[in-house]
Amino acid sequence: GHHVLVRGQVLHYLSDPGPGDDPTAWEFFDDGALWIIDGRIHAAGPWAAIQANMPPAVREGADFHDYRDHLVLPGLVDTHIHYPQAGVIGSFGRQLLDWLNDYTFPAERRFADYSVAEQTAAYVVDRLLAHGTTTASVFATVHAHSVDAFFRVAEAKKLRMLCGKVLMDRNCPDTLQDTAESGRADSLALIERWHAKGRLGYTLTPRFAPTSTREQLQATGELFAARPDLHLQTHLAENPAEIEWVKSLFPERASYLDVYAHHGLLGPRSIYGHCIHLSDAERRQMAATGAAAAFCPTSNFFLGSGAFDYAASSAAGMRVGLASDVGGGTGFSLIRTLGQAYEASQIHHTPLSAMRGWYLATLGGARALYLDDRIGSFQPGREADFTVLDWTATPELAWRMDSTRTLAERLFALMILGDERCVRGTYVLGEKTWPGGLGV
Ligand code: GUN
Ligand code: FE
Repeated sequence: GHHVLVRGQVLHYLSDPGPGDDPTAWEFFDDGALWIIDGRIHAAGPWAAIQANMPPAVREGADFHDYRDHLVLPGLVDTHIHYPQAGVIGSFGRQLLDWLNDYTFPAERRFADYSVAEQTAAYVVDRLLAHGTTTASVFATVHAHSVDAFFRVAEAKKLRMLCGKVLMDRNCPDTLQDTAESGRADSLALIERWHAKGRLGYTLTPRFAPTSTREQLQATGELFAARPDLHLQTHLAENPAEIEWVKSLFPERASYLDVYAHHGLLGPRSIYGHCIHLSDAERRQMAATGAAAAFCPTSNFFLGSGAFDYAASSAAGMRVGLASDVGGGTGFSLIRTLGQAYEASQIHHTPLSAMRGWYLATLGGARALYLDDRIGSFQPGREADFTVLDWTATPELAWRMDSTRTLAERLFALMILGDERCVRGTYVLGEKTWPGGLGV
């Protein structure tokens, strides 16, 4: 086999530390190592112990990466992002529904041209890796070929990625509409072409309740029921005007969540963006069905949508992952996103600890996407996607990181002051994938 040995400060999670920072939920090896064989974790542990277990001939043949004094984490997991909206980031002054009409739909219309999709997909995958993200749940556009463009790039980089064609057959520009029947047929063809090919997974992607007819929601629910190996993603309870609109479009349903429940879209392997304005009963309903929430604080603050209640959602039993929601979100960095997750948690008087925050960005996201048997931790057999962070990438970080600080203090400072400048390298299946290029 092909052996890779990485030395560094290794942190990973075995479970959710919860609001009480359960110390059995994580492992940290201050002078630690990863031993990777053929792209999978063989062992993670103290450097000395890994060294002692490695036969000298194996040690000599192994690729060695020395990241002493750097933090080695499982690759970050972005549970909700729109790749076609890379050029929408930072569009002024609107809330959700106007923002969709003024900026987002025009941007997505350009994806009728395959070369726009191709160029954007290559750009976005490069930026994800530069920000330490190795897996994402990705919205494409209504155009089937926008999924082809994204999966081609992800496949070439051997990334574990989820993506789907947006389904929308009403309440959006004519040129961006499919029909219940064409949306279903296009999804089936894409599933045939891409699902379970290498590390790729297909995600049924009705945009949100207002842009689908009952027929489209019903057809999607039937497909989801017939194919429990697929994922499903959409948006839920993001913005007050959106919620009112859903009420007027679906007067027969008890709530926004009930629209999805009624059409069979709630279940394990479904990921709902935002979930801000939910009652406790709705949170429990989501938890009971296994549906997960994507927590998108940069987007929620940028679009003035509100502050997701992570403590209440996880206490109700919901799975929750962190997400950039680019282009509602303000960038690709899940480190910056974690900083804003902390700010959202403060609004609810339940401050998110660093120990739980880094869980959210790694194993928590993998669990929300039902991929924790493959990624998100360094348990033996997991796929060896990881990122290497420099604790002292900026003067402000360096000033904060003196040797008297505890691990929790340093991780907290990193989550508040850190960003993509901290990312030293991103590895996919044990191979350095970012930065690429000559001599870097
Ligand atoms: N709701 C429906 N579509 C979108 C979208 O593209 N972004 C966000 N943030 N919310 C949505
Ligand atoms: Fe979104």
